[in-house]
Amino acid sequence: MKKLRVGVLASGRGSNLQAIIDASEKGDIPAEVAVVVSDNARAMALDRAREHGIPAVHIHPPYYKSKEEYERRIVLELREYGVGLVCLAGYMRLVGKVLLEEFPNRIMNIHPALLPSFKGLHAQRQAVEYGVRFSGCTVHFVDEGMDSGPIILQAVVPVRQEDGEDDLSARILEQEHIIYPEAVRLFAEGRLRVEGRKVVILREEE
Ligand code: GAR
Repeated sequence: MKKLRVGVLASGRGSNLQAIIDASEKGDIPAEVAVVVSDNARAMALDRAREHGIPAVHIHPPYYKSKEEYERRIVLELREYGVGLVCLAGYMRLVGKVLLEEFPNRIMNIHPALLPSFKGLHAQRQAVEYGVRFSGCTVHFVDEGMDSGPIILQAVVPVRQEDGEDDLSARILEQEHIIYPEAVRLFAEGRLRVEGRKVVILREEE
């Protein structure tokens, strides 16, 4: 089977990117990271890409007159590498209509909370401060809202009484590294069907 070509957008550390690269290199998913794009020249995600021989591109938002122009530049890059799925991995910007129109239901994001709870920044801190007993992470398709698109996979972790933000973040991150490659695998196998708000996971072909 031909491998799905994935474009990853990341702003920072890139541990989710690494999880996808590792799953791909191990042959666990029929997908490969074709290019990594970052809005941050110093993102560790770019170094991780280079270490694996993956093209690493920095696109500097202030150079562009508008968000549309900035995103058109990203689209050019993604097209150049024949990308069929875009994964946001710690990409700290709201995706706009240029990217959404180019990749309808083909952009995924991972968020460190059980959506629709604790959208936005510092989701783990929000969960600790709210006092929930369980939190987790969500992989979802991206739409025009913030952390609002159809949910693909979630994983649950307990929140312990003594947890601070960092403890909970670490426990959630372990699960992120499992469910993000898994969501990419399901997409690559053609097993995700979006029906309105919901994502139906089709059975593996026998
Ligand atoms: C991850 O915890 C991811 O869920 C979160 O940023 C971190 C990136 O880590 N994303 C968001 O909060 C998006 N709203 P990474 O760069 O090591 O993958």
